[in-house]
Formats: sequence, C-alpha cells, structure tokens
Amino acid sequence: MNEPPANPIRPRLVRNWLSLAGFILAIGSFFAFVLLFAIDLMAEHSNPYMGILTYVVAPGFLISGMALITTGVLLHRWQLRKSLPGAPPPRITIDLARPQDKKLLAGFLVGTPVFLLLTAFGSHRTYQVSESVQFCGQACHTPMKPEFITYQNSPHARVSCVECHVGPGAAWYFKSKVNGVRMLASTLANNFERPIKTPVKNLRPAQETCEECHWPQKFVGNLERTYAHFLADETNTPFTVRMLLNVGGGETSSGRTGGIHWHMNLGNKVEYLATDEQRQVIPWVRFTDPQGVVTEYRTPNFKGDPKPSEIRRMDCMDCHNRPAHHFRSPSEAVDLAMSVARIDPRLSWVKSNAVEVLTQNYGSESEALRKIDSTLRTTYTNYPQIDSLVAEVQDIFRNNFFPEMKANWRVYPDNISHKNWAGCFRCHDGRHKTPDGKRSIKASDCNSCHIILAQGSGPQLETLNPKGLPFFHIDAEYSDFSCAECHTGGLVK
Ligand code: HEC
Ligand code: HEC
Ligand code: HEC
Ligand code: HEC
Ligand code: HEC
Ligand code: HEC
Repeated sequence: MNEPPANPIRPRLVRNWLSLAGFILAIGSFFAFVLLFAIDLMAEHSNPYMGILTYVVAPGFLISGMALITTGVLLHRWQLRKSLPGAPPPRITIDLARPQDKKLLAGFLVGTPVFLLLTAFGSHRTYQVSESVQFCGQACHTPMKPEFITYQNSPHARVSCVECHVGPGAAWYFKSKVNGVRMLASTLANNFERPIKTPVKNLRPAQETCEECHWPQKFVGNLERTYAHFLADETNTPFTVRMLLNVGGGETSSGRTGGIHWHMNLGNKVEYLATDEQRQVIPWVRFTDPQGVVTEYRTPNFKGDPKPSEIRRMDCMDCHNRPAHHFRSPSEAVDLAMSVARIDPRLSWVKSNAVEVLTQNYGSESEALRKIDSTLRTTYTNYPQIDSLVAEVQDIFRNNFFPEMKANWRVYPDNISHKNWAGCFRCHDGRHKTPDGKRSIKASDCNSCHIILAQGSGPQLETLNPKGLPFFHIDAEYSDFSCAECHTGGLVK
C-alpha cells in the first residue's frame, strides 16, 4: 500500500521566525510556570511577588508565546498566498491514514484535558492572586504604601481590599481589572497622582460592600468612648472626655430607631450637594422621609438648584470615610502614644515638642526620620530614655505620614467627628434651613448626638453624670460650630 506523502504545508507554515520565537517563549514560560508552581505548593508562607509571578506573569508570557505562534502562521500563510498568485491557498489537512497525524491526534486527546485542567486551576489561582491584599497593596509598592500601611493598622486589617473596593459579582470584578490596568500603566509611567485623590469616584455603594458584613438592621443603643488628650503645656496636663454617643438604630425590627444611625438609609433618604471635590462644603441637603415627604435645607447664600447629576445620596462612607485608612494627625497620634505610656507624659513639654516635629514638611521619609532624631536629641540632652522616645516618634511618622506620596492627615479629611474637620457640622451647624427659614436641620445642639459623661483629669473622671455635662473647654473661648477653625491636628493656635 502506498503511504500518502507527509503533509508538506504544515511544517512550512510554522517554520517562520515569529512562530519560532513564540515557541521558545511559550516553552520557556511553561517550564518557569511549572517550577514556580512547585515552589508555591511547597512554600509555607506565600510571598506576594511569588503568586504574581506564578499566576499572572508566567501565564501571561505563555499566552503571548502562543499568540506569537498563531500570528506567525497566519502571516506566513498570507505571504505564501501572495507569492504564488493563482495557486490554491495552502491548507492544513488532517489525514488519519498518516501515522504522523495519528500520533498528533493521540497527543491532542491526552494533552487537551491536562491543559484544560491546568488552565482551570491556573485561572482560579490568577483570580485569587489578583484579588489578594498583597496584589492590591504591595504590587504597586510606592503608590499604595500609604493606604496599605494605614489599612494594616485599622480594625479592617483582616478584611481584604477587594471586599470594600470591588465587592461581589463579575461586573465589578471586570470593572476593577480594567481600572487596574489603567493604574498599572500610570505606575509604570510614574505619572500617578500624589496624593491619590479622595473621595474615590464611583466607589461601589456601601449597600453592596459594607453592608455585606455590617447588617444595618442590627444597630441599636449607645456607644461609650473615651478621648484621652494632653495639653501642649509644660506638664502635659491630661484632659480626657468620656462620652456616650447616641448611635441608635436604623430600623424598628431590632429596637428603637433614631440617633446617629438614623442616617443608615433604611427608610430615610438623605441627599446632598457638595461644591468642592473633597465634599467638605455642603450648602444644600434634601431629606425624603419614609412617607415620601420631602424637606429641603440650604445655607443662606446658596441660590439656585443643583443639577441632578451633582446630587449624591448619603451612605455609610459619608461619615465612615476612613474605616480602613485613617491617617492620624500629629496631635491624635501623640495623645495615643502618651495615654498608653509609649511616650512618658512626665517629660516636660513632650506633647508640644513631639507634635511640633511631626507637623513639619519633609521631602522624604529618610529626611524626616533624621530630623526627628536630631531635633529631639538636641531638645532633651540629658533624658536617659531618649532612644525610645526617638524610636516612638519615628514610628508614628512611618505609620501615618508618607512624604513620597504627599499623603498625611492634611489631605485626607476624616468625616466621623467635627473637631479637626467639619464632619457632621457640614450639615448640622444650624445654618442649613428650610426655604421659609423657619426650621434648621435637627440635631444641631451639643447634646443631640452625644452626652458628656465626665471630663477633665484625675478625680473629675471618677463620677459619671448620666444626664450629661456641658462641655468644659479648658479656658479657651470657642463658638459652637467652629472647632475645626482652631483644631487642625497640629498645635492649636
Ligand atoms: C473596610 C473597607 C476598606 C478596605 C478593607 C480597604 N479600603 Fe481602601 N478605602 C475605603 C474607603 C471607605 C475609602 C475612602 C472612599 C471615599 O472617601 O470615597 C478608601 C480609599 C482608598 C484609596 C484612595 C485614597 C484614600 O485614602 O482615600 C485607595 C488608594 C485605597 N483605598 C486602597 C486600598 C488598598 C490597597 C486596600 C487593601 C490593602 C484597601 N484600600 C482596603 C475602604 C476600604
Ligand atoms: C468583610 C467584612 C467587612 C466589610 C466588607 C466591612 N467591614 Fe467594617 N468591620 C469588619 C470587622 C471584622 C470589624 C472589626 C469588628 C470588631 O472590632 O469588633 C469591623 C469594624 C468596623 C467598625 C468599627 C471600628 C472601630 O473603630 O471599632 C466600623 C465603623 C466599620 N467596620 C465600618 C465599615 C464600613 C464603613 C465599611 C464599608 C466601607 C465596612 N466596615 C466594611 C468587617 C467588615
Ligand atoms: C451620620 C453618620 C453615619 C452614618 C451615615 C453611618 N454611621 Fe456608623 N457610626 C457613626 C458614628 C458617629 C459612630 C460612633 C462610633 C465612632 O465614632 O466611630 C458609628 C458607629 C458605627 C459602628 C461601630 C459600632 C460599634 O459597636 O463599635 C459600625 C460597625 C458602623 N457605624 C457601621 C456603619 C455602616 C455599615 C453604615 C452604613 C450602613 C453606617 N455606619 C452609617 C456615624 C455614621
Ligand atoms: C449631608 C448632610 C448630613 C451630614 C454630613 C450629617 N447629617 Fe445628620 N442629619 C441630616 C439630616 C438631613 C437629618 C434629618 C434632619 C431633620 O429632619 O431635620 C439628620 C439627622 C440627624 C440626627 C437626628 C436623627 C433623629 O433621631 O431624628 C442625628 C442624631 C444626626 N443627624 C447625627 C449626625 C452625625 C453624628 C453626623 C456626623 C458623623 C451627621 N449627622 C452628619 C444630614 C446630615
Ligand atoms: C451632629 C452630631 C453632633 C453634634 C451636634 C455635636 N457633636 Fe460632638 N461629636 C460628634 C461625634 C460623632 C463625635 C465623635 C466621633 C468619633 O470621634 O468617633 C463627637 C466628638 C466630640 C468631642 C470629643 C472630641 C475629642 O477628640 O475629644 C467633643 C468634646 C464634642 N464632640 C463636643 C461637642 C460640642 C461642644 C458640641 C456643641 C457645640 C457638639 N459636640 C455637637 C457629633 C456631634
Ligand atoms: C478659638 C479656638 C478654639 C475653638 C473654636 C475650639 N477650640 Fe478646643 N482648644 C483650643 C485651645 C487653645 C485648646 C488648648 C490646647 C492645648 O493646650 O493643647 C483647646 C483644647 C481642646 C481639647 C483638649 C486638648 C486637645 O488637644 O484635644 C478638646 C477636646 C477641644 N479643645 C475640643 C474642642 C471642640 C469639640 C470644639 C468645638 C465645639 C473646640 N475645641 C473649639 C482652641 C479652640
């Protein structure tokens, strides 16, 4: 019997430089993948770059290699066709009578399931890796450092980035990857924004992220908080405020409603217009109650009506905008360190000096650490624990200030309070009134959101007053809603 001639076209089609390069790339990256995969399986701790190399970079090269092979074949075929006008186009034919083709088919039948299995596993791991905290926080090291470090210091350190920033569902996954590619490009081109702008535009609504874990129906009751401060005087006089925050609840199924979490939006709808990018100036507010009754509030000099596209519906993030990335102000960070004796409160002027050195502008982290060291050492020449003081202040700096990204408390407003930023007083300042001027937004007096149980220091803190005390503000004068005019996170002028 006559053996049919070996198919002459096939080998010729793959014999071109592009396909050859593709082969080398594909085979190289395949072996790299196998090796990395074996290491990943055996390693006890996962290394952020390992996962990225194994499941993102290596498969990327493998796919590029295969794409090159195909492109080479197509290109070559097109060239052949051009060089032999009139001849039938070269075809790839399979003839099982040819032993070579039989072998190929067998190889194909065994290879395909193995390949599919590997692909399924590989793409699952690629998905996992691209959703991991390491990938989000460390792959683009410089731009994400501030958010990554503050995140690790937050109550959400065990919640992965994507649970707040992406949430469940394929559509948002896809959106975030498209966005990620853009960010990667700007990281490579080194033209990303410093600092990264806040608020995040088009962040997924809180209903689909925060509320996956924090079930709003379940919030009731009061929350006790203690704010321990030290004054910027010679003796670092302690000044503590103990408060009962009227957090309340948003729905009747688990208790009384009202209080701060009345805003949870279960029945009520609060919308607002902000005139600046950071949403710090709010001249217009609209409230729709569960019955559909609408009330509009505006500040005296706001005229006209906002465009529908500018209106934002209030959600968790309008108060809790720093649940995972809280950049502590110098004053707050030093107060904390002093209250737990990591900085000795008996050292004279230490509050003032530590805040002062942290408030300066530095060009880089290393410069800041050097200056903190030299300034404190010249101030406290005979202090035996100077090393630990320097180390503590440097530690505060590293965890909250990021000169390379120009990121610190100054550029990231915290809206949960009203002391250093307008926060609640963006709306609850008594100036937002109905158009007839008769009614202002409720809860605009000092006892509607919290009562002060005790304040001061020493024995003053031992008797609590359940009715609430009037705020005793050291001996400094203040008018009701202007806290942030004097308190800016540094030393109070
Ligand atoms: C508990 C939820 C949560 C987690 C977890 C979380 N974030 Fe955020 N992130 C937020 C919120 C809320 C904002 C501010 C959004 C706003 O104001 O619009 C934000 C803002 C940001 C910003 C913009 C800059 C800024 O500070 O406002 C970046 C960048 C960012 N996050 C990255 C990350 C990375 C990286 C991780 C994981 C290492 C992470 N986030 C984890 C909730 C979260
Ligand atoms: C994947 C689950 C998860 C998601 C999503 C999540 N959180 Fe949390 N949250 C937690 C856990 C866990 C804690 C810590 C609980 C504790 O300390 O008792 C926490 C704590 C908190 C606290 C209390 C913090 C404190 O100082 O004690 C607030 C406020 C909060 N989350 C708000 C938010 C907001 C706002 C979002 C959306 C941007 C969000 N969370 C998204 C799980 C989550
Ligand atoms: C009007 C502002 C505001 C809104 C809107 C708001 N919160 Fe709060 N929330 C507060 C304040 C103030 C506290 C008191 C604790 C604090 O100051 O951190 C608090 C406390 C919490 C706590 C801590 C409770 C505890 O027992 O420690 C969680 C969790 C929380 N909120 C989640 C949410 C979630 C989820 C949403 C959106 C559904 C939301 N909040 C909407 C202002 C708000
Ligand atoms: C965008 C504007 C806006 C911001 C910001 C805001 N609120 Fe409100 N708040 C409102 C509106 C509107 C009402 C309903 C007022 C009314 O009916 O007169 C309200 C009502 C309240 C109530 C009364 C709820 C009840 O029982 O009737 C409390 C308490 C409250 N807010 C606390 C806070 C706290 C605390 C913050 C800051 C963490 C805050 N709000 C931030 C708009 C705002
Ligand atoms: C709209 C609600 C609201 C009103 C009105 C309000 N506060 Fe507060 N206040 C808060 C919230 C919320 C916090 C703390 C949130 C946090 O830090 O977790 C706070 C915190 C404080 C603190 C502790 C801050 C610190 O760091 O020690 C003091 C003191 C205080 N308020 C005084 C006042 C005084 C005085 C008034 C009246 C002029 C007032 N508040 C009106 C919501 C309100
Ligand atoms: C006119 C300026 C001014 C205004 C307005 C003002 N304060 Fe103060 N506040 C001061 C000064 C000055 C001190 C003493 C600072 C020191 O010695 O460290 C102080 C100290 C404090 C302290 C204790 C120390 C510290 O560093 O936290 C608290 C708490 C405080 N103020 C809360 C408030 C609140 C809440 C408001 C708004 C209701 C407010 N202040 C408005 C000037 C002001």
